[in-house]
Amino acid sequence: MTSTKTTNNSHALTDRLRYVEASPTLALAAKAKALAKAGKSVIDFTAGEPDLPTPEPVKQAGIAAISQDRTRYTPVAGIPELRSAIAGDLNKQRQTHYSASQVLVSCGAKQALFNSFQALCQAGDEVIVLSPYWVSYPPLVRLAGATPVIVETSKRDQFLADVARIQAACSPATKAIVLNSPNNPTGAVFDEERLVAIAQLAHERNLIVISDEIYDRLVYPPARHHSIVQCSPALVDQTLIVSGVSKTYRMTGWRIGYVAGPQTWIEAMEAIQSHSTSNPSSISQYAALAALQGDQASIAQMVEMYQQRRDRLVKGLNALAGCWAQVPDGAFYVWCDVSGLKQPAAAIAAQWLEDALVATIPGEGFGAPHYIRFSFPVSLETIDEGLRRLSQWVAHH
Ligand SMILES: Cc1ncc(COP(=O)(O)O)c(C=O)c1O
Repeated sequence: MTSTKTTNNSHALTDRLRYVEASPTLALAAKAKALAKAGKSVIDFTAGEPDLPTPEPVKQAGIAAISQDRTRYTPVAGIPELRSAIAGDLNKQRQTHYSASQVLVSCGAKQALFNSFQALCQAGDEVIVLSPYWVSYPPLVRLAGATPVIVETSKRDQFLADVARIQAACSPATKAIVLNSPNNPTGAVFDEERLVAIAQLAHERNLIVISDEIYDRLVYPPARHHSIVQCSPALVDQTLIVSGVSKTYRMTGWRIGYVAGPQTWIEAMEAIQSHSTSNPSSISQYAALAALQGDQASIAQMVEMYQQRRDRLVKGLNALAGCWAQVPDGAFYVWCDVSGLKQPAAAIAAQWLEDALVATIPGEGFGAPHYIRFSFPVSLETIDEGLRRLSQWVAHH
């Protein structure tokens, strides 16, 4: 007999699901991939990952970890060698003094962020999130029971945070601010002066800073990455730096990210992780260690290559009637204003996919309904063909 308490029933879902839908970026990327698999010639600008393979020595380190039976549970927070290598790398890049015990290795930067919000934010807390934002910040804040307070940045300010606006959005309930530089989706890179001003505000209001620096090595000269802890060393006691190997070392599938910060916070996150996933994959940890300890020359080569693609795409998009694109200083996305096309971005992206087989990510999920994100780790030929199709589409609409 069937129970009246059916399990396949939306009433069974918890209240926290009200705020959480599957990531829109992943959904569109999946649709583009499904079309391509069905034999359609899709030009895919959706992927949030490098097109190049994982470097060979890193792959070999993963294979060696399997051969050498390094396939058991590791300490929850990661193998000591990797925690130490991450602390060393952060200290070298940012002139900080993190110890290995101030680093937690997680299943991607995403879990590092999840742990951060779970450990530090709860109901009644407000968290400042700058828009356009990476799609997962608001749901991650809400899953912790807290409320995201969105502070808009604009095209006029090159999508850089206006400190007075942040200040105006603060209330007695403000607990934390999320920074993301280089930014996904805009590619904006914070200058030192602005970070110093934000740090001062964070000091005055005793705000926790969650600084997502996953694209820190993907910055196009003359722009340079600055971390808030470099600009204001005293802020280190109230800051979490989140990063990982996914983008820099082309390791998105290996799922290794990390968070560094005050030891008591790291221990709290370790406790959370001990009851959710435990350690990230042992094999991936050894591969990440090889990535950090290996030759770093391929990063500069990748940046040079992506800069060429960036310039080609920005130029082409700016030649399309109704579109305007900013030159991104970092990451690998072009953020394109499509308000001149007089329709919401979601409608335009759907038509581009349907009519021209060009896949992009509409800005609604990033808090900006008149923008479309183009990811440019694709070949120059792909960029040219995508632009050709879009210029034809625009000419007919
Ligand atoms: C800004 C930002 N933070 C975090 C992540 C998550 O990185 P990971 O794949 O290491 O979980 C991404 C991935 O797209 C991102 O763009």
